[in-house]
Amino acid sequence: MDIYHPVTIGNLALPGNLFLAPVAGYTDRAFRSLCVDQGADFSFTELVSAESVIRSRPDLKVPEAPHPVNILLRPADNEQRYAIQLFGADPERIGLAAALLGPWRPAALDINAGCPVPKVVRSGAGAALMQDSANLGRVVEEAVRASEQFLGAIPVTVKLRSGWDSQSLNYADCARIAVEAGAAMVSLHPRTRAQGYGGRSDWTCIADLASRLSVPVTGSGDLAAAEEARRMLRETGCAAVMFARGALGNPFIFAETRALLLAQPYRPPGPGERLAAALRHLERLAADLGERRACVEMRKHFCAYTKACKLGRAGIAGGAALRNSLVHAETMEDYRRILEEAGLLFE
Ligand SMILES: Cc1cc2nc3c(=O)[nH]c(=O)nc-3n(C[C@H](O)[C@H](O)[C@H](O)COP(=O)(O)O)c2cc1C
Repeated sequence: MDIYHPVTIGNLALPGNLFLAPVAGYTDRAFRSLCVDQGADFSFTELVSAESVIRSRPDLKVPEAPHPVNILLRPADNEQRYAIQLFGADPERIGLAAALLGPWRPAALDINAGCPVPKVVRSGAGAALMQDSANLGRVVEEAVRASEQFLGAIPVTVKLRSGWDSQSLNYADCARIAVEAGAAMVSLHPRTRAQGYGGRSDWTCIADLASRLSVPVTGSGDLAAAEEARRMLRETGCAAVMFARGALGNPFIFAETRALLLAQPYRPPGPGERLAAALRHLERLAADLGERRACVEMRKHFCAYTKACKLGRAGIAGGAALRNSLVHAETMEDYRRILEEAGLLFE
């Protein structure tokens, strides 16, 4: 099989195997739409708490209403298929939240079993689900039941870490239990909860899991460049890869990776093209959040876009000074002016 290939997750057929990972605070629907523009085959919302879904009662509202949870849950306009990621520890509450997701028509429902943030794990959710694999199984079972009853039986998927810490590398057990409970794909970020986002991810765990499971395994971890995605696919035998930090400020990574996997020529975008994408991102974010909030939210994204410029044909001179100006931008006009003054708006 070619290294770039379609992936089937339960009854969901995806055209390719390059996914955008869930990244809280970054993979908003505006950013996801840019990744889809660049050929992302599948994308995930950031983690959304089951409780916040239940509280917001989306089934009683117009899905387009600008409620904060709605904005997290809604697909981007060009996003034909996406997964909503839920977190929670109580199987019944997960089922209840899942049952309310119908208005958005997600193509899959992903369960977060990897988030290391204290507030999340204290409630028994995120990576803490890996410490109680029986409960993880019940959470998946309830999600599957709700999907069958209310969501047209879309596949339920699970995202795991390698374990809680180096003494408890139980990803294989957790994945088996999740699959027995009905999970149709497992994504693995092979760092432990104790590692957070530091150190290196251990891809041998991805290879091990891919050899054990009958469902597709998606690999995550340290995919900063197209070549690394190709290496992960080759070395681990995973069905798909998901870009996380490597995509931030660089939605072009999807087009570049696809070209690499298909041995097609690829012209990397220069700084002007990259920053024009950042402005499109800002415009789409402003449509969701209003200009004021979008301009604040975009500061971190713009920093990522300017840093990614060094991946293109030429970096930008005075990148640090530019970032310093950008973090003070308050309006869309400010952003445009700063980029124009730096001579970066047009190639
Ligand atoms: C700031 C940040 C937020 C993240 N948010 C989520 C999340 O909401 N759900 C999730 O499953 N993983 C989340 N992740 C983990 C990523 O999806 C990914 O598995 C991890 O960053 C490893 O990939 P990378 O080393 O290529 O970044 C997050 C990672 C980062 C850095």
